[in-house]
Amino acid sequence: MVEPRPLVIAVDGPAASGKGTLARRLAEYFGLRHLDTGSLYRAVGLKLLKNNNDPANGSLAEAAARDLQENDLTDPSLREDTTAKAASFVAAQPRVRAVLLAYQRAFAQQLPGAVLDGRDIGTVVCPDATAKIYLDASVEVRAARRAKELQVGATESIESRVLSDMIERDARDSQRDVAPLKIADDACVIDTTGLGPDGVFERAQAFVSSRRN
Ligand code: CDP
Repeated sequence: MVEPRPLVIAVDGPAASGKGTLARRLAEYFGLRHLDTGSLYRAVGLKLLKNNNDPANGSLAEAAARDLQENDLTDPSLREDTTAKAASFVAAQPRVRAVLLAYQRAFAQQLPGAVLDGRDIGTVVCPDATAKIYLDASVEVRAARRAKELQVGATESIESRVLSDMIERDARDSQRDVAPLKIADDACVIDTTGLGPDGVFERAQAFVSSRRN
């Protein structure tokens, strides 16, 4: 008898490229669980910020990752931009990534499968995923989306701060030595610059369905 295999969908891409929205919709459509892996790195970063510790301190970041609890993942401060910045520092620590890897892989392997969104899902966490999607968009469009999400009444000065923070964070995520943000060879790339959530979902759903058969 053939063992059933989990359906695993990897959604990667830079900040505010639409990963969360797409991942939630794919999970609902295919009846899968969803893991926002960025929230794990955000939770580690937030722990350090709350204790007035430097997010670039590898030993303290590793200890915070080992100590992660379920309720750390629901803190409203996780969505703040300062937390995102701290997350990108802890995410560059190999020992932090090693601690979080086992949890993510175990999550993906439970039947019927899962959608994971992040930076290294298709390249490192689930290199054998059924379908890999890489979302991208111009940094200006992504910064405008994030400024709106942060409900800061998108004034020009706030948008330009979000834009410069995002350029810095994208560079840190793409240039780090361990599990940098990059397109997996077998990923379907979708540019969401001029595409709404429905258009992105339709393309992604068609791709996943084709990979499944
Ligand atoms: O929501 P947004 O795309 O801005 O960020 P996020 O997905 O919540 O990720 C926050 C930070 O965590 C990223 O900038 C990365 O530094 C890190 N991260 C990572 O390194 N690997 C992942 N699989 C997910 C997030």
